[in-house]
Amino acid sequence: MAKTPGTLHALFPAVPKDNRGRASSAFEAQAPARGSEAPGSPLQSLTRRTAAYMDALMKGRVKIFTYGCQMNDLDSLKMYTELSKAGYVPTDSTREADVIVVNTCSVRQKACEKAMSNLGRLASVKLRKPSAVIVVTGCVAQQEQGRILERMGHVDIVLGTHQLHLLEALVEEARAGRGPVVAAGFSPCVPFMDTVFDHGLSPEPHRAYVTVMQGCDNYCSYCIVPYVRGPEISRDASKVLEEIRLHAGRGSREVFLLGQNVNSYRGGMSFPELLRRIHDIEGIDRIRFTTSHPKDAGDDLVACFKDLPKLCSHIHLPFQSGSNRVLAAMNRKYTKETYLELVSKFRQARPDMAFSADVIVGFPGEGVNDFDETMDVVERVRFDVLFSFKYSVRPNTKAASLVDDVHGEEKSRRLDILQRRQREITLENNRLRVGGVYDVLVDGASKKHEHQVHGRTTHNVIVNFDGPRELTGSIVKVRITRANPNSLTGELLASPPS
Ligand code: 5AD
Ligand code: SF4
Repeated sequence: MAKTPGTLHALFPAVPKDNRGRASSAFEAQAPARGSEAPGSPLQSLTRRTAAYMDALMKGRVKIFTYGCQMNDLDSLKMYTELSKAGYVPTDSTREADVIVVNTCSVRQKACEKAMSNLGRLASVKLRKPSAVIVVTGCVAQQEQGRILERMGHVDIVLGTHQLHLLEALVEEARAGRGPVVAAGFSPCVPFMDTVFDHGLSPEPHRAYVTVMQGCDNYCSYCIVPYVRGPEISRDASKVLEEIRLHAGRGSREVFLLGQNVNSYRGGMSFPELLRRIHDIEGIDRIRFTTSHPKDAGDDLVACFKDLPKLCSHIHLPFQSGSNRVLAAMNRKYTKETYLELVSKFRQARPDMAFSADVIVGFPGEGVNDFDETMDVVERVRFDVLFSFKYSVRPNTKAASLVDDVHGEEKSRRLDILQRRQREITLENNRLRVGGVYDVLVDGASKKHEHQVHGRTTHNVIVNFDGPRELTGSIVKVRITRANPNSLTGELLASPPS
């Protein structure tokens, strides 16, 4: 899977505040009680009574910290959804929370350390409020299991990546004083992935994130994912289609398919077949997916970009290295040449195709010539976005037995060269878009500029332009007026939004 902190933006950066349904009414009921109404006024008294009533109905407040990829973002949204159905209300405040979940990522050492240090800090929260239930989920929970309880006495529940459906029941147990507990087995079916969720709490209701598979069988030599997410399990196509129809009926315009390796999907049909079936769903105007492995991207996937106009003109296609020697040591099962050939096939099928990718520098044994090959791929493909990482040793992986022989400074030097050149290319790509008119799916109001909104082109490039927040969720035509390092600025054309 190819998204990590600081790579593709966090989907749900904060606890949703603008949520609907039960959580929303509870929030609204509480807000005025702390507000400016004159003490003792009839309105304040009514509000206080309403808040007390809502408090009596709710079981407690929940705060979830999310690290890592879009799969984790979606798992967190599902956990909020499950807990809110059971009577819990999201909160921004760690102090106020009765349940605190840390949904972790272990793909790289840094991500792992970040999650663990946040978890460590929660010891003081538990000290102040012993009734608070502390839960660890995600890849670090799967990797460390009982060791987390040994090291951190304040943790109540460790939930592995296949066991998230147990969350609510185990929280109830913990609140009744039973625990601590570790549930981290792998199972052939993952109920949490399979359940059709309605995501009433999603901060982006116009975009439906839908899991199609999870796990990975590829065992790239540097990667911990197969060990912490387990083997590939595809979700039945009928479930995937049902969930997308549900979202379409509720107004989602875009569907974003998620999985560690979506194009090895086998849920009763192939991934390209699934794309064609989704394309037929009324109300869905855009289809995206991530992540793809180049070795599994066949001609049938390429053909989808020729045949399916709703399929967005963007693919995330991690290449990891441009050196065939390093690619072989990474167990990637393709070469620089076949990767470049694949890119040109996509470009033939869809001439304006945009690419993003992941790349690692400083893999064991990577020499300067190998790094030059990586830079050559960067020059040839001209990615819009490149998520670049210094190699870090991950426990249990094959590469962990190799000598990590590219020293830290050299890794930093290579990363710096790569990132500097990529920044130039991104800006050059963006400049080529100035003057063009693009369909933009509006994601919401700008945080920085009051009268601005932001959205994405089919190429997944962010566009900011003047417009009312009511455009959120519609697709509008925007002329690009300026290229920025990581986005475009444009002007709204007069045509009514679709
Ligand atoms: N070191 C550095 N980067 C890694 N990635 C995965 N494992 C490691 C590692 N051990 C990167 C890959 C992958 C992305 C999600 O994280 O580029 O595609
Ligand atoms: Fe991606 Fe390879 Fe890791 Fe699987 S093992 S998640 S294909 S990097």
